[in-house]
Amino acid sequence: MYKTYFNLARNPFELTPDPVCFVPTRWHNEALAALYYGIRRHKGFVVVTGEVGTGKTLLLRCLLGLLKDSEDLAYAYLFNARLSPTEFLQYTLTDFGLHASGKSKYELLLDLGQFLASRNSKKMTTVLIVDEAHHLSAELLEEIRLLSNLETTNDKLLQIVLVGQPELDDKLDSFELRQLKQRIAVRTRLLPLGPRETRVYIERRLQIAGADPNSTPIFPEQAIQAVYRYSRGLPRLINSICENALIAAYARQSPYVTPDVIEYVVEELRLNIPYPPAADNIKRHSDADVQRAIDTLLDLYTSRRGPFANDLSLGIPPRVEERTS
Ligand SMILES: Nc1ncnc2c1ncn2[C@@H]1O[C@H](COP(=O)(O)OP(=O)(O)O)[C@@H](O)[C@H]1O
Ligand SMILES: [Mg+2]
Repeated sequence: MYKTYFNLARNPFELTPDPVCFVPTRWHNEALAALYYGIRRHKGFVVVTGEVGTGKTLLLRCLLGLLKDSEDLAYAYLFNARLSPTEFLQYTLTDFGLHASGKSKYELLLDLGQFLASRNSKKMTTVLIVDEAHHLSAELLEEIRLLSNLETTNDKLLQIVLVGQPELDDKLDSFELRQLKQRIAVRTRLLPLGPRETRVYIERRLQIAGADPNSTPIFPEQAIQAVYRYSRGLPRLINSICENALIAAYARQSPYVTPDVIEYVVEELRLNIPYPPAADNIKRHSDADVQRAIDTLLDLYTSRRGPFANDLSLGIPPRVEERTS
């Protein structure tokens, strides 16, 4: 309803994780590079963790966007991790296009092993992606570790990507799962955005929705600062606050969002309580690591050479902001 009023072509702060709206922030770039290279270089296990609403599912969708046109790659995408080991295998095989119903766990494992070996002999990559992996039981995690044992003398047959909330880190760090932990080749963390990235994020999402970057900003600097204060840089909260702020500003027939609109909205959303886990306590990756990952991604986006040339389907140049917090 406010779209016409603000001259927008679409809702800028939609909550569904749509790759069209992807804003390549530094942490998202780093994680995307880690996922992509972990898979392409057959590293075996890749793990990404992050708080609720940091953009993990969106990241996976962007990854699938990068991979989808690669004919040498097949993936199974599991988004419900609360399964028994047999259900898990049935789901995985079915997603790979194999017949799975009515088969015993032994038969399922046999079929999967043959499928993976046959693909590997043709130099094809096969990936298992689990979103919400913090819900995986210790039993299922152990089952997944056993799948990672499927390998030839010099290559892993299955690339496994686990993505979940920080509880997944706790599980993987537990004594019980130490064998699995030792197999993780790439492990990275999605952090909330800093204040400047929050501004870039809001502006970029507005532009993607059709806002004219040369006209008076719908979200002036002070409003953005207020959004950051209450969201602590979590993209899902930024979206909720901004979406409601647009509705409230429209109701007041105000052409831009003032800080008091943000105050009103966070009260309505009951977000005016200090948000507990301070992102600032989390250990940061070194600048050199982050820069390396970004350089890698820049190559990926822009290079027309090399083995990844056909995978450049995202088509969005990364915009990198310095993190100030
Ligand atoms: N880098 C980003 N660019 C654009 N939107 C983002 C980004 N990161 C997160 N979001 C948005 O934030 C919301 C939450 O993201 P989601 O992937 O569902 O989080 P998670 O899976 O970590 O809980 C979604 O609306 C998503 O589109
Ligand atoms: Mg998610």
